[in-house]
Amino acid sequence: MDGAQDVRRTFLNPIKVVFVCLGNICRSPLAEGVFRSIVMKHGQQDVFVVDSAGTSAWHIGSAPDARMCQTAVKNGLSIAQLKGRQFQKEDLERFDYIFAMDKNNLNDILSLDEKGTFSAKVRLFREFDPDPDNYQVPDPYYGGEKGFDDVYSMVERTSRTLFHRLAEEYRLSIEY
Ligand code: 4NP
Repeated sequence: MDGAQDVRRTFLNPIKVVFVCLGNICRSPLAEGVFRSIVMKHGQQDVFVVDSAGTSAWHIGSAPDARMCQTAVKNGLSIAQLKGRQFQKEDLERFDYIFAMDKNNLNDILSLDEKGTFSAKVRLFREFDPDPDNYQVPDPYYGGEKGFDDVYSMVERTSRTLFHRLAEEYRLSIEY
């Protein structure tokens, strides 16, 4: 990952990451919850700011989809308290890393960056998946339960790899 930092990252200068999908009610709130739980497990909650957003305005203020919440609960995670919000142009500046769930999300984010100033921060989340398939997290919204389970597996595996890549990059002393 580029952008290696010599400055030690602490609560005063945290690593800010945001996960982005279309609705911010299925894939990205799950990624927010899973990634945050990994951060906490390794004692790095002061070092990271973790957020999620949707490219659409459809679900602003809504809780995550009940089916995604259920899948999360099945895996020991609660995401029901999260609230949908729309990705804003200012988020391009605010976050260090912007992870898009699919290529449409990536293009929608990049279209807010007219001058290309922030394009290096915007990546497909599954670039960090050890088993990346087509590099996208498929939208489970119109499908069945298996789609949600598959999304969970991809998000969990990718979040773990991503966390360890960042921990290495920033030389974090992580707890186990
Ligand atoms: P998400 O899934 O982008 O993973 O949150 C979707 C949620 C809602 C809709 C589409 C995708 N929708 O059409 O309302």
